[in-house]
Formats: sequence, structure tokens, C-alpha cells
Amino acid sequence: MDKILIRGGKPLHGSVQVRGAKNAALPLMAAAILAEGPCTLHNVPCLHDIFSMDKLLTSMGMSVEFTGRYMTLDASSMNSYTASYDLVRKMRASFFVLGPLLAKFKKARVSLPGGCAIGTRPVDIHLKGLEALGAKICIEEGYVVADGELTGADFAMDFPSVGATENVMMAACRAKGVTRLSNVAREPEIADLARFLNAMGARISGAGTDLITIVGVDSLSGAEHVVVADRIEAGTFLIATMAAGGDVTVLNANADHLPTCIAKLREAGGEIEVHGARIRVRAPERPKAVDLTTQPYPGFATDLQAQIMAMLTVADGVSVIRETVFENRFMQVAELVRMGAQIDLDGNSAIVRGVPALSGAPVMASDLRASAALIIAGLAAKKGETAIARVYHIDRGYERIEERLASLGADIERVND
Ligand code: EPZ
Repeated sequence: MDKILIRGGKPLHGSVQVRGAKNAALPLMAAAILAEGPCTLHNVPCLHDIFSMDKLLTSMGMSVEFTGRYMTLDASSMNSYTASYDLVRKMRASFFVLGPLLAKFKKARVSLPGGCAIGTRPVDIHLKGLEALGAKICIEEGYVVADGELTGADFAMDFPSVGATENVMMAACRAKGVTRLSNVAREPEIADLARFLNAMGARISGAGTDLITIVGVDSLSGAEHVVVADRIEAGTFLIATMAAGGDVTVLNANADHLPTCIAKLREAGGEIEVHGARIRVRAPERPKAVDLTTQPYPGFATDLQAQIMAMLTVADGVSVIRETVFENRFMQVAELVRMGAQIDLDGNSAIVRGVPALSGAPVMASDLRASAALIIAGLAAKKGETAIARVYHIDRGYERIEERLASLGADIERVND
């Protein structure tokens, strides 16, 4: 098992490229199931989660070629509508194949994804949405079995779930008639998926707002698409610079997709300049404490909560962080406390009392974004060495992060334990 070792206290300088968004590429790959011709995706990040989705689609007969950041997918050879438990359990985004399989085969059998470290993560909204389109759904031996012809309908979501919005929007593309989805997620990855589906011949409008209208079509063709930049990766590098100090420019980013994060980093004393696809951050001597609440987009992203908490552990003052999207997304707290952070939990709030400095320590990664928080804390630590175990969590969502941080001047390396 690999470990990442960090000797902190060194400011970051230079520029770093942002890759394509993991949380866009995964539903885009699932959408290729709907195409009656080959699809091509550019700017696909080279991540474990992408390989997992590749394996799942291939297990159903799709042909997938992935070299560099270029991926071709051809669903014409698909011969199964079953997504097996042993593949789905490894990556819950596999559940996004349900809607496309049902639309293509009029039947689908997809393992329930189960929970994960950050919460039980039910799929009730996905299922209610597909039932609204006329699907018959039952649960058999841990699998969701869905079948039926899909008919356009109006459906209001209990909560703006990203995955449910994507699953139901993909299914509705092939429903007979018009579907109006309200109270939907507005994350940029939803609009990216809609752009790809429309390039395939779908008729979607309103993606990115809280009302999406889909006029069903009889077939969808292959299409080409460039995956949108990863706003969470961009935000992670901006926050890391604020915590470690320095002056970093993030390239190929889209600042419009980080409105609340940029506002919070400015409130914490960061100087942030946006020039097209470049975001430059100059860190203050010491970040100021800020309060924040995670919310669906365009609110502060839950996927950046652990990272900014790591920054706030060394801020000047007391910060209150409220996590409202997931029920158990403070897994990083115990490990940050081992490094000298002062954090108290009160329900879904974390009270972070800034300390002058953290010190390095052996710590354990628990989930993708908590791992990023531990790396940021290691970079900020003014003494000692931080050894992060179970780094496979971080490889799910960040490409060779240690190499890229080292190129910014961090004293960081990956060792085989
Ligand atoms: C997507 O997960 C992202 N994953 C997550 O990123 C991200 O944290 C999340 O959206 C919120 O932005 C991908 O896009 C692959 P949700 P998703 O459905 O779709 C509840 C990362 O680190 N809910 O918006 O699973 C759910 O329990 C990952 O990159 C229901 O109750 O998130 C949660 O509390 C982690 N019923 C809340 O909604 C449902 O049917 C948000 O979940 C669906 C969701």
C-alpha cells in the first residue's frame, strides 16, 4: 500500500493544470449507453473511478478505448443490462447507468450501491423519478430491477440530488413525450451532461437551472465532447495554497463554477484574480477565520468542505462549518486533531479554533475529499512529517497529486509502504 509523506511549511509557487471533472466524466460515460453510434470524450481524467466505470461498461459489452485523456465508447456491442454488485459496490457512481440502460433496453438490473464513508446515500429519488416516467421498479436480492416503456412526465425532486437529476434526465431523453424535472441539481456537471446529450440529438433545455425540460426522441447518435474542467480539483489547489502560503495560478479552470469558494477565500484574506481560464491566488500571511455552510450548487460545495476545514485549522480566529448535504462528512476531523487542530463537533456543525501551526503526524485517509484535507494539513504543518496511509482514496479523484504539488515546491513524495 502506498503512503504519501509530506514535510510541510513550504509555500507553493507556480502554476498547475486542472484536469477534466471526474464527476462529469462518469455520467458522460454512462450516457454513451444511449448512443447508437460511437462517442468520443476528450479531457477525460486518468483516475481509478474512471477505470472502474470503464470496467463496468465493458462488462456489459460496450467497447471502451481509453488512452491518455481520449476515450471512445461504442454501445452497439452491448449485450447486457445488468450492472453487477461486485462492480457497483466499488464505485457508487456506477448507479448512473440505471437510467440509460432502462431507456435503451426497456429493462435494467443494477445493484444497489450501498452506503459509503460519508453517508447511507440512498437512491430513493432516482427510483421515484424513473417510476414517474412509467418504469416498474422492484428490489430483488440487492438489485434494482426496472422495466417498461418510458413516457414523459412532470417530476419534482425532494432534494436536488446530482445523481438522480443525471439518471432521470438521461432516461427522459428516450421517453415518449415531454418531461419536466423541477427542484433539480444545478451543478455544472449537469449542464455538461446535457450538452453531450444534445450533441447526440437529445432535446434538453434548462440544465443548470432548477427546472429541466426534456422532449423525448426516438434515437440518439454518437457524439464528441470535451469534459468540463474539474471545479473541485481547482478549488482544492486554491485552498491548498491558502493553507500553505504562496502564489499559485490554476490553469484550465472555470472560476464561474466556484463562486462561493472564491468568495470565501477572499473573505479569508486571499487575493484572487481571474483571467479567463486562469485563477491566481496569493495567500495572506495567515488566513482569517470564516463561517460557511455547504449547500447544493451554487452554494459552497460539500466536496470542498474537508479541504477548507484543513485550511481553517490554522486560521486566525474561530470558524463554524455546517455540513448540510451529507450526514457524516467530518471523517477528516479526528485525523486533523491528531495533527494539533482544535475542532469540536456539534451535530452537523464543526467549530474550528485556529491554532498557530499544525505538526506532522501519521494519519489515515478515509474517503476521497478527507484525504485531500490531510494533504493540505500536511502542507500547512510547520514541523514534523505527515505520513498519509490508504492513499488509494485520493487516487480515485486526483491524478498524481503528489507530483503536481511537488512541482509547486511542496516537499511531498509517494512511498511504497
Ligand atoms: C454527487 O454524488 C457527487 N458524485 C459527489 O461527489 C457530491 O458530493 C454530491 O453529488 C453532492 O454534490 C458524483 O457526481 C459521481 P447527491 P451524488 O445525490 O449524486 C441524498 C466526490 O467526492 N440523496 O446529490 O451521490 C444523499 O444521501 C463525490 O467527488 C437522497 O436522499 O450526491 C445526500 O445526502 C462524493 N436520495 C444528498 O442527497 C437520493 O435518491 C446529496 O446526494 C439521492 C441522494
